[in-house]
Amino acid sequence: MPDQQYDYDVLVIGAGPGGYVAAIRAAQLGLKTACAESRETLGGTCLNVGCIPSKAMLHASEYFDAATNGTMEHMGIEVTPKLNMDKLHGQRLDAVDGLTKGIEFLFKKNKVDWKKGHATFQDAHTVKVGDETVTAKEVVIATGSSVTPLGGIEVDNSKHVVVDSTGALELPKVPKEMVVIGGGVIGLELGSVWRRLGAKVTCIEFLDEILPGMDADIRKESRKIFKKQGIEFKLGTKVTGCTVKGKKATLTMEPSKGGDEETMTVDCVLVSIGRIPNTNGLGLENIGLETNERGQIEVDHEFRTAVDGVRAIGDCVPGPMLAHKAEDEGIAVAEWIAGETGIVNHNVIPNVVYTLPEIAGVGLTEEQAIEKMGGDKKAIKTSKFPMMANSRAKTNHEPDGLVKVIAEAESDRVLGIWAIASVAGTMIAEAALALEFGATSEDIAYTCHAHPTHAEALKEAAMGVQGKPIHI
Ligand code: FAD
Ligand code: NAI
Repeated sequence: MPDQQYDYDVLVIGAGPGGYVAAIRAAQLGLKTACAESRETLGGTCLNVGCIPSKAMLHASEYFDAATNGTMEHMGIEVTPKLNMDKLHGQRLDAVDGLTKGIEFLFKKNKVDWKKGHATFQDAHTVKVGDETVTAKEVVIATGSSVTPLGGIEVDNSKHVVVDSTGALELPKVPKEMVVIGGGVIGLELGSVWRRLGAKVTCIEFLDEILPGMDADIRKESRKIFKKQGIEFKLGTKVTGCTVKGKKATLTMEPSKGGDEETMTVDCVLVSIGRIPNTNGLGLENIGLETNERGQIEVDHEFRTAVDGVRAIGDCVPGPMLAHKAEDEGIAVAEWIAGETGIVNHNVIPNVVYTLPEIAGVGLTEEQAIEKMGGDKKAIKTSKFPMMANSRAKTNHEPDGLVKVIAEAESDRVLGIWAIASVAGTMIAEAALALEFGATSEDIAYTCHAHPTHAEALKEAAMGVQGKPIHI
């Protein structure tokens, strides 16, 4: 029975993958639930301007690239592709429309009330949503994140010259020359989209290598592959300014450690240097809730904040800013509120870059594994298996990439798995399951894998930890 003192048992703020999943699970568990969302559509960053539209552009541009870069011709299929930008964007918008409406349907089906408008706390149990005041016994903050601004650079998505990820999804025509600032996930995914469609893309990265946080071998190998595909890299470089004249942007940059300034004039600049939590404008001051130095809301393992009755999940709390992490936290927070045990294993959150080949990993990098073993390199074993030696990848003309398994030397327990392969994002599910079950490399090596599949490369890499691979 709902607590009569409040309108709802649970009010979730934000309808992204964290919030909408939390709301649906709470309702499934019999709690009277509402979800506040300031956007016109449900689904948050992920469905509206993130995971889904970026994958729609990646998938379509992959076909175009295959038709223009010789891959199809190589297989005996000769085509002359012609780009229809309206249709390309149309299929992206269709995907977004279908999926966001799908969440609307799920809300109705599960009896979650959608409160339209911006939510602000009045007190810990009272939230103003637009003109309405809603009270709830438990409030879950799932407000997500926004683009990190870069000092001195003004983004204006409407002009299509200096854009953020949202603007880069919507460019009406292919820029001749494009710069992506930041060699992270967004820079590489959206840089790849426009490179495939014909832009000359340069990636400017502050650090000495792209994809920080990933295994060092994987970072280096990925960059080699992107370079081969035509993306230029300026590593260890910081952008110091940007001026826009008409349809052109001129960037000034210098080595990150200091040095001579350089300029570059291009048609489009994508600013993709990370995302920051949406914790401003929520009225946190009204409930005495402070954020940490990164603007995130600190929570315990039950997602409780420092304020009684207020919990938080997803991009606005510490941890990787990923949709599946937010979703799992959404389920878990609802289960805790309902008096059950909600579990998220934050040590096993897979991470995928959806380029071609895809880049994926789960668990520890080799560097983290050595650190965990007190700096003793001999305490771990690693093995790499190249995709070139995998029969399916070779047959499909996808020779780039490798699978790397990192295991504890003494126990053989797997600590991390990394892959660069056309379907690495799918392959990493098996790796996550292995880590979740505490598998040894021998367990993976003795598991029968269907032939011919890319997944056999994981089996072979695991056999390599034992020193007994067959196909290399
Ligand atoms: P969000 O999805 O950000 O949702 C929060 C919602 O809260 C928003 O809709 C916002 O409007 C609403 N809101 C905020 N404040 C208020 C308020 N005060 N009142 C009412 N509503 C409010 N992750 C992946 O795992 N895989 C991918 O392939 C992937 N691709 C991405 C591509 C791009 C271009 C971007 C930008 C991100 C991508 N991400 C991807 C990251 C992913 O989108 C986020 O990790 C995920 O959306 C976080 O979910 P969330 O529920 O925490 O927040
Ligand atoms: P990111 O954190 O992945 O990468 C940002 C990059 O910019 C880093 O390499 C960083 O060193 C660099 N950088 C920072 N400041 C810089 C500067 N001043 N000049 C040059 N380089 C600079 O952030 P990104 O790509 O913006 O993505 C944000 C988040 O969105 C990701 O961290 C991820 O959580 C999520 N995302 C996930 C995707 C996926 O799962 N496939 C796809 C897209 C986004």
